[in-house]
Amino acid sequence: MIDTIELAKKTLIQNRKSGYTLPTNNNLYPAQWNWDSAFISLGYSYFNLEYAIKELETLLLGQWEDGMIPHILFHDNDETYFPNHKTWECGNKIPSSGITQPPIVATIVKKILDQNKLDQGQMKRMEVIVKKLKKYLEWFYNFRDKNKIGLVSIIHPWESGLDNSPIWDGPLDKVKIEENLKYERRDLNVSKSENRPLKKDYDAYITLLNQFKKIKYNPSEIVNNSMFNVIDIGFNSILIRATKDLVEVAKKFNLDFSDLKNRISMSEESLIKFYKDEEQSFFSYDFINHDLIKIDAISNYFILFANLENKDMNNKIINKLKKYNSQKEYFFTTVNPKDQTFEETRYWRGPVWINSNWIIYQGLINKDRNFSTLIKNKTLDLLENKKFYEYYNFKNGDCLGAKNFSWSAALYLDFKFN
Ligand code: DGY
Repeated sequence: MIDTIELAKKTLIQNRKSGYTLPTNNNLYPAQWNWDSAFISLGYSYFNLEYAIKELETLLLGQWEDGMIPHILFHDNDETYFPNHKTWECGNKIPSSGITQPPIVATIVKKILDQNKLDQGQMKRMEVIVKKLKKYLEWFYNFRDKNKIGLVSIIHPWESGLDNSPIWDGPLDKVKIEENLKYERRDLNVSKSENRPLKKDYDAYITLLNQFKKIKYNPSEIVNNSMFNVIDIGFNSILIRATKDLVEVAKKFNLDFSDLKNRISMSEESLIKFYKDEEQSFFSYDFINHDLIKIDAISNYFILFANLENKDMNNKIINKLKKYNSQKEYFFTTVNPKDQTFEETRYWRGPVWINSNWIIYQGLINKDRNFSTLIKNKTLDLLENKKFYEYYNFKNGDCLGAKNFSWSAALYLDFKFN
């Protein structure tokens, strides 16, 4: 029997196209996705540094002039996915979507550089990547930090990477669905409808897309006009960590990123205000309804990944997380099973995702060694028993969504070798 490490490598290689890697090979996602690609690059770094760097370079080829890195790059004219390049009608050198995704790539670059000895040529290439990433992070602070408080808004649920999390239910209710909206979903041809987002979610996703297209994806206009505008805890935690990590990485290249550094204290100060003592939790904020979104979702705990300089607060979050569902056989669910919005098998409304476990694990390593080891061992067990699927059922570990899922394979390698 092929061992799990070899299978992980094989999964990535089999999903690899020229210079980039598909999230899976079953036509559910036939393009390059931003945060998938970052996780994938980390996976390659354990056996093929060249592929790891190339993956990032290809992702950055699609960076827009203003600095944004799109959430999807459509490298060929594949139309099996919806919405494809014909719907979005945008992109810089590569046709792309017109929105972004969590900037986890900066943290991944730091990890790859810390863990590997790169030769001179590779360091030069990495320096180019690092400079482009600075432009990316600045783009967030320039265009998405509407109130100049160091926290950014997402303007589409797809930007969060957690597409149909119940966190977006309230905000999406305010999206006025376009009249005579016509589109044809393709995801249901390759995935079960009970695992995927609902029609009402897609109606809102496409309405928002069409609105952005109308204003030509102008970043200043989008943030002012979008019917969806959320300061998301998970997203901002990843951005704060990305900013901290990129500042550190810059030192390896004798680059001065101190202007980015100034953002960090302001972001942390603002973020702390979203902590509510009563629930001992952070909650995302709906800018349109002016409401905190009180749903107990795993992405609220991504705050640990931000490495806030506040030990007390971190400890409170860790204690709460221990009651979330780590006593179960399989965890973490995307939403607390006790929350009324929880759905056992539907995409980001319940199932266990490997990247969520990884983000939490990374946030805990320097704060609670025993707990982080428990998460790592449980995740490794799940992957060794079930192999690399898109997501899993928390009750029995049943495999859900796509098989041969790249980031599950890539993050297996990272869990295994660290
Ligand atoms: C999808 O198509 O489900 C993707 O997650 C959107 O980015």
